[in-house]
Amino acid sequence: MVSERVNRIGISPTMKVAAEAKKMQSEGVNVIDLSVGEPDFPTPLNIKLAAIKAIEENKTYYTVNAGTPELRKAILKKLKKDNGLEYNLNEVIVSNGAKQSIFNTIHSLIYNNDEVIIPAPYWVSYPEMVTLAHGTSVIIQTKEENGFKLTPEELGKAITGNTKALILCNPSNPTGSAYTKDELLSLAEIIKDKNIFVIADEIYEKLVYDDFQFVSFASLSDEIKSKTVLINGVSKSYSMTGWRIGYTAGPENVVQGINKIQSHSTSNASTISQYAALEALEGPQDVLEEMRKEFETRRNYMYDEIISIEGITCYKPVGAFYLFPNISAYFGKSTDVLRVENSFDLAMYLLYDAKIAVVPGSAFGSEGFIRISYATSLELIKEAIVRIKHALAKLK
Ligand SMILES: Cc1ncc(COP(=O)(O)O)c(C=O)c1O
Repeated sequence: MVSERVNRIGISPTMKVAAEAKKMQSEGVNVIDLSVGEPDFPTPLNIKLAAIKAIEENKTYYTVNAGTPELRKAILKKLKKDNGLEYNLNEVIVSNGAKQSIFNTIHSLIYNNDEVIIPAPYWVSYPEMVTLAHGTSVIIQTKEENGFKLTPEELGKAITGNTKALILCNPSNPTGSAYTKDELLSLAEIIKDKNIFVIADEIYEKLVYDDFQFVSFASLSDEIKSKTVLINGVSKSYSMTGWRIGYTAGPENVVQGINKIQSHSTSNASTISQYAALEALEGPQDVLEEMRKEFETRRNYMYDEIISIEGITCYKPVGAFYLFPNISAYFGKSTDVLRVENSFDLAMYLLYDAKIAVVPGSAFGSEGFIRISYATSLELIKEAIVRIKHALAKLK
């Protein structure tokens, strides 16, 4: 029998839709997968070559648990240059993807019903990680009309004597919204006198559009920096999802807590991947801009098409690579064979009728929406839009 702890969590719902889509694809069905959470570009060549060189030079042994000093120094340089943040080597740790960085951070901070405030829609893993750490998630439903951003009033109301942390995903998966500096400052104002950490998941930092200026939460002030655990990585910005390199920067005691947890679980992140990540951070950066621009073109196209569909409203995202349209106008509508009652029904209808995979909003804690990824070619996006429009028009 598995433990009660495992019984309390479920398998990632985004993976359920993707698995069904993959099954259909393997049966020869032409499914366009818009449920994906990773860039479709290959990892840039200079990064791949750095990994090959590492293998050839026998850099294939364990490294220090926290990551090679070279990579950690490169991360410190990046944080200084891009975010104006100064950390020392003991305040940064490299993990197996940002997912492990977040998991370890939560385990380093949370225990025994500590409350963690999570704005919804949220990245699917946050509440499950909190549950695994015996913490309690306090979910705040953000509003579409506020661009799905947490307001200071909403934050203030959710804080209790047991609140230990707030998780702020900026830019956000699944909505693509991002906070301006003023908005971050107003949230910082609420927590500045409180004993609360902010876990700032900034993995989509580099993917912002319309000249949006990304601001790292920790950079707001020294006081806020001392309360912030910053999460970032190379997966999304450098198209390196499979390499599994993420990192955490924050107060030394929290980072050293993470170090302990990691030393008894996975030890260091893959040595070869660390050399690849070093090249990503230290090598030429122009490829970042090329990928960002391509995402912006796709976002513009997909957004214009989606809002032209009757009944759909959609916040115009400024970051990440997802749209999060409100599709609730379709609830209660049917075809001859089915009736759509919720976002899961609509996602399944689109999968079976239009052969398009999207993720139901319920997976992110927000019913009434679906998440559509534009991390796929413009050509496929165009075909997908035709199919989505056709399928939705059949619902009466
Ligand atoms: C918001 C968010 N945080 C963290 C991660 C994890 O990133 P990584 O692939 O580096 O583990 C993802 C990946 O989907 C994400 O969307």
